[in-house]
Amino acid sequence: MTQPVAFPQDRTCPYHPPAYESLSRPLSRVTLYDGLEAWLVTGHAAARELFVDRRLSSRSDRPGFPIPSARLAGFREAVPALIGVDDPEHGTQRRMLIPGFTAKRTAALRPRIQETVDQLLDAMEAEGSPADLVSAFTLPLPSIVISAMLGVPYADHEFFEVQSRRLLRSTEVADAMDARFQLEEYFGKLIDRKQHERGHGGDGILDELVHNQLREGKTDRAELIALALVNLAGGHETTANMISLATFTLLQHPERLAELRADPALMPTAVEELLRFLSVSDWLLRVATEDIEIAGTTIRAGDGVVFSTSVINRDADSFPNPDVLDWHRSARHHVAFGFGIHQCIGSNLARAEMEIALRSLFSRFPDLRLALPADEIVLNPGDTVQGMLELPVAWERTRSEGDSAT
Ligand code: HEM
Repeated sequence: MTQPVAFPQDRTCPYHPPAYESLSRPLSRVTLYDGLEAWLVTGHAAARELFVDRRLSSRSDRPGFPIPSARLAGFREAVPALIGVDDPEHGTQRRMLIPGFTAKRTAALRPRIQETVDQLLDAMEAEGSPADLVSAFTLPLPSIVISAMLGVPYADHEFFEVQSRRLLRSTEVADAMDARFQLEEYFGKLIDRKQHERGHGGDGILDELVHNQLREGKTDRAELIALALVNLAGGHETTANMISLATFTLLQHPERLAELRADPALMPTAVEELLRFLSVSDWLLRVATEDIEIAGTTIRAGDGVVFSTSVINRDADSFPNPDVLDWHRSARHHVAFGFGIHQCIGSNLARAEMEIALRSLFSRFPDLRLALPADEIVLNPGDTVQGMLELPVAWERTRSEGDSAT
C-alpha cells in the first residue's frame, strides 16, 4: 500500500480524473482536509462488491464518516433523506419514490423535455452568439424538468430556480441554509395546498405522494419535504454539469462528434460512455460499521470509505483503454450513478435529458465552438460536482439557415 495522498484534488483536465500520484488498486489510503485518513476505493470489481455491502453506512452523523472539505463539514447536519440514510429507513423512502421514476413515467416526460430544450435553445439563439451555455441552457433544463416532475406549478419556476441555485451553488453555508429554509417552506405550503385539493390534483410526484401516502397516514409532511429536496439536490447540478462537460468534451473531440453526427443512433451508447468518462459525482461517501475483509485488506469498523467514481470508471481491468472516448464500447457497468441500494433513482431521466439536450444543441448550432481557449475555462473545485460554472460558446450559423439536422 502506498503513502496516503490528499483527497479530493482539483481536476486539471476537465474530463480526466485528478492526477493523483501513486494510487493503488483496488484500494488506496487518502488523507482528507481535516487530517483524517480514509480508504479510497479505486478498483471496479471491489467497488461493486463494497457498494452492496450492508456494513457500509451512508449516515454522516456516524463517527469516522469522511468529509471531503471544510465547506461540506458545514452541511453535515443537513443530512439529505434517502441518500444519507440506511435501510430500513432508506428502503421505505425509496419505495415511496419509485413509482415516479419508472421507465414508463420517464418515457412520458420525453416530449416535455424536448419542448423545454427547444424553448431554451430558441431563447439562446434569439439572444445571439456568444452565450453562456450553463446559464442559458444546461442549468435551467434540469430545474424545469424536476419542478414539472415534482408537480411544482410553472408560475413558481423563477422562485424555484433562484432558490435551487442558491442552495446548490452557494459557497456560503449560511446562504445555502437560508435557501434550503425557503425551499422547505415553499414545499411545505405546496404540500398543504395539494392535501386540501379535491381529488387527485396534478400529476406530479408530490401529488401522488400526498394522495397515496400522506392522506393514508403512511408518511408525514416533514418526510415529503425532505424527499422533494433530495430530488432537487440529486438531479440538478449533476445533470447540468454532465451536459456542460459533455458539450465541452465533444467540442474537444471533433472526430467523436463527427461520428455522432453521422450516426445519431449512437447517441444512447455515447451518453453511457460520456457518463463513464466524465464521472461528475466523483466521490461517494460511506463509513464502515463492522470490519470488512476485501482484496486481502481489512477495512476496520469506523473507517471512512470514499468511492472515486472517476478513478473506478478508468479501471483498465473493466474498461480496456479507459482514457479513450469510444462510442463502441459497452460502458453500462460504469458506476457514475453509484451502485447498490443508493444507485441513482433518476438515472433514466438523466439519460433522457442528456440525449435530448446534446442531440438538439449540436443539431441547432452546427458550428458550435468554445468562445474561450479551452484552458481558460474555470473548472469546479474537487469537493463539488465536477464541471464548470460557465461555458462560453459561440456560433455563426443555425440549422434554420440550411444545415441538415444531426
Ligand atoms: C447525470 C446526472 C446524474 C448523476 C451523475 C447522478 C449521480 C448519482 C449518484 C452517484 C448517486 C448515488 C449516491 C450514493 O451512492 O451515495 C445518486 C443518487 C441519487 N440521485 Fe442521482 N444523478 C444524476 C441525476 C439525477 C436526477 C435527474 C435525479 C432526480 C430527478 C436524481 C436523484 C437522485 C436521488 C434521489 C438519489 C438517491 C438515491 C438513493 O439514495 O436511494 N439524480 N445520483
